[in-house]
Amino acid sequence: MITRREILKSAMLTAAGIAAGAYTPRLARAADPAPAAAPAPAGPFLLPPLPYAYDALEPHIDAKTMQIHHDKHHAAYVANLNKAVADHPDLASKSVEELLKDLSAVPESIRTAVRNNGGGHANHTMFWETLKVGGPAAPSGALGDAIKAKFGSYENFQAAFTKEALGVFGSGWAWLSNGPDGLILEHLPNQDTPLSSGRTPLLGLDVWEHAYYLKYQNKRPDYVAAFYNIIDWSAVGARFDKSKTV
Ligand SMILES: [Fe+2]
Repeated sequence: MITRREILKSAMLTAAGIAAGAYTPRLARAADPAPAAAPAPAGPFLLPPLPYAYDALEPHIDAKTMQIHHDKHHAAYVANLNKAVADHPDLASKSVEELLKDLSAVPESIRTAVRNNGGGHANHTMFWETLKVGGPAAPSGALGDAIKAKFGSYENFQAAFTKEALGVFGSGWAWLSNGPDGLILEHLPNQDTPLSSGRTPLLGLDVWEHAYYLKYQNKRPDYVAAFYNIIDWSAVGARFDKSKTV
């Protein structure tokens, strides 16, 4: 008789095999592996479709990385978030942003799972919406003015943001956020988000190895440099404008 444990183990091995097949074996060991997706339930949180083709960000981010990043990693965060809230219908009716803004309201038994997987879901959803080839080369409007006021110039902002991105030890994100103290640059570990500190994330850069290792291997500085070619400053500026009205 097949036990539930054996079914779960088989499913996890199958998922891992699919992910490994997309990498070379050597790279699969070097980059952080896709977390195992939890089996059902299928909701209430849903994986949003990637808003462009896998190869839309070439040559800055390669199609294979985008495919694995969205279809495996982001999907796993969504599946594991759904699993975490499955027995908490009061939480399932909230948005992921609402959950992350007040983690103290999440039962301690699932708080870490919501923090990690809810953060992974929210961060990646925003990340996809922030990337575009051929967008404005630099921020303008109110955000452009705020960046100049805070950092002196866009070039200074870039240097400071790069420093945050390269300062992540292990896995995490570099963030530009807006809050009561204005624009803030920081880096946070894992899938932590400025939302949990009362700020609105405007721009995030995923520096987990799964975001760049296939193309850039250990050269994180090259990946960070390429990121500046694909920021959709129109989207970031709109997020800034909205944050001032919240
Ligand atoms: Fe990621």
